[in-house]
Amino acid sequence: MLKIGSLTLDLPFILAPMAGITDLPFRMICRRYGCELAFVEMTSAKALVYENRKTEKMIATRPDDRPLGLQLLGTDQEFILKALDIIHKYEYDIIDFNAACPVTKVTSKGEGSGMMKEPRKLGRLLKAIVDHTDTPVTVKIRAGWDERSVNAREVALYAQDAGIKGLFIHGRTREQGYSGSVDYQVIREVKEALDIPVIGSGDVFSPLHLRKMFDETGCDGVAIARGALGNPWIFIETAEYLKKGIVPQMPEIPEVADIMAAHLRASVECHGPVVAPVAFRKLFVWYTKGFRDVKPLKDRVFRAKTEDEMLALINEFRENASYSQKSCICQ
Ligand SMILES: Cc1cc2nc3c(=O)[nH]c(=O)nc-3n(C[C@H](O)[C@H](O)[C@H](O)COP(=O)(O)O)c2cc1C
Repeated sequence: MLKIGSLTLDLPFILAPMAGITDLPFRMICRRYGCELAFVEMTSAKALVYENRKTEKMIATRPDDRPLGLQLLGTDQEFILKALDIIHKYEYDIIDFNAACPVTKVTSKGEGSGMMKEPRKLGRLLKAIVDHTDTPVTVKIRAGWDERSVNAREVALYAQDAGIKGLFIHGRTREQGYSGSVDYQVIREVKEALDIPVIGSGDVFSPLHLRKMFDETGCDGVAIARGALGNPWIFIETAEYLKKGIVPQMPEIPEVADIMAAHLRASVECHGPVVAPVAFRKLFVWYTKGFRDVKPLKDRVFRAKTEDEMLALINEFRENASYSQKSCICQ
């Protein structure tokens, strides 16, 4: 069980926000396989305030897409508070604040992991958010800016003082981006320093990695990001593993193909027949990762433009793919 403010989760793992990926169809597929709390990708407070139509589409949800968190990005208090007023109507279960994004376009404005350099300012901003909303507020941080300035513990303490209800930490520095391995020690230090729940993030690609994150850090919950790409089963596998201590068998090929088709259909409904099939190309590659005999299909996937073309390739995968030694996606 994991409790973040007024929100109680039966299982202590969460679908982490991923820009360009954790849209409504992606979240609903993960929920089908046991994901409870999911996040909309990071959303710029300024874009929300300027009523950017793309942003409104990005944060779209529906009643069964619950519990759901929204993650805000920005540094300007005025915009952030206005953004909170705009999103109030969506009744998100958590408002998370992004102090973790490593992208230069973001950090050059002091946003995302740029906030790791200003723990006091981050604390003040979080306090203003907490005072402005009844929804539980959390923050996502990194280990630090770079290896010479690993300050997650200090940042986390300022954040806790601001009244947040939980803290997510990706155990890499901004400088590392997504490379190198996750630093469990820094997550442990943060966990030991705080009284609120700490949710670890980084390199959880299987139930066994999740166990490692818990064991090495003592964290209260785990956020799963890249481990869910083309692998929504990770949630049910992890639940089973935590209950029984056994990693279940990977899904059969027809089930993988069925989910791909359902994901494609939902994407077309959400994003339209022009954008969705092209955006699905990367999902096709993720879903079929580790299967044998799919290389020729993958080459053709990058030429598919319509839902029918993509569906035909999914059906070819269903008929022609086979398991390979490295295909066990739960290892
Ligand atoms: C493509 C991509 C987009 C991401 N977008 C976000 C985001 O919008 N907000 C955020 O807090 N983290 C974002 N992340 C970071 C993940 O939530 C997670 O913390 C990180 O990938 C480490 O976990 P992993 O090793 O399990 O992938 C993103 C990661 C990836 C790979």
